[in-house]
Amino acid sequence: MLSSSAPSPLHVAIVMDGNGRWASKRFLPRLAGHKQGVDTLKRIVRACPSRSIGTLTVFAFSSENWSRPAEEVSGLMDLLATALAREVSQLKKEGVRLRFVGSRSGLSDKVKAGLAAAELDTVSNTGLELNICFNYGGRWDIVQAASGLAERGEPITEQTLGAALALSPSADPDLFIRTGGEYRISNFLLWQSAYSEFFFSPALWPDFTEQDLDAAIAEYSARERRFGKTSEQVR
Ligand code: FPP
Repeated sequence: MLSSSAPSPLHVAIVMDGNGRWASKRFLPRLAGHKQGVDTLKRIVRACPSRSIGTLTVFAFSSENWSRPAEEVSGLMDLLATALAREVSQLKKEGVRLRFVGSRSGLSDKVKAGLAAAELDTVSNTGLELNICFNYGGRWDIVQAASGLAERGEPITEQTLGAALALSPSADPDLFIRTGGEYRISNFLLWQSAYSEFFFSPALWPDFTEQDLDAAIAEYSARERRFGKTSEQVR
């Protein structure tokens, strides 16, 4: 390992891709893949504390996902509502602080109420910070942040814009994982991933395991993060 290797990641972001293909391979409806994806998310959430991950940010529904078939969109909304109803009390016991990052417009009153209740219920927890990006897009976020600053007549600087983004006050992700064998950012955390280390896993999200997470962390730990400096400067 390099002497300048990065420490364990504090903030991991994940594009949970591959649910649809996981289901198609089994001749199941796409929603079955998303359901299995919720189980994977539960496992990975539980794996975080023992790996020194303080913040986990996942992409559950993008601004662009509205253009999927109506049945899949409503299925994902129902899945979120059901998962919250089933899981929040246990997450609360485990010290997880839940936050939903994204636009609330277009969401049903039932979903909006579920998100607000889950956030309120876990607000004083001090364990894992779990950010679920739902109805989120990196471009949407930059625009809403800049518009808010302009409306309030505030200066637009890297600091003010960063602080006005929906993910704030979470720090920028250290490690950005995308599952499903694709090599794209897909409008996730465009601003915040400027210096993230990327790890692309061939595993479809429902098949992603704690060992895959460990492999990503091991690769991250062996990298040298330079933040624009030279290797000599950071050593
Ligand atoms: C991308 O896979 C995944 C999504 C659009 C949804 C991700 C949602 C979950 C993992 C479930 C957790 C969600 C909630 C509601 C908490 P894809 O459908 O694009 O897969 P494909 O590329 O194989 O078609």
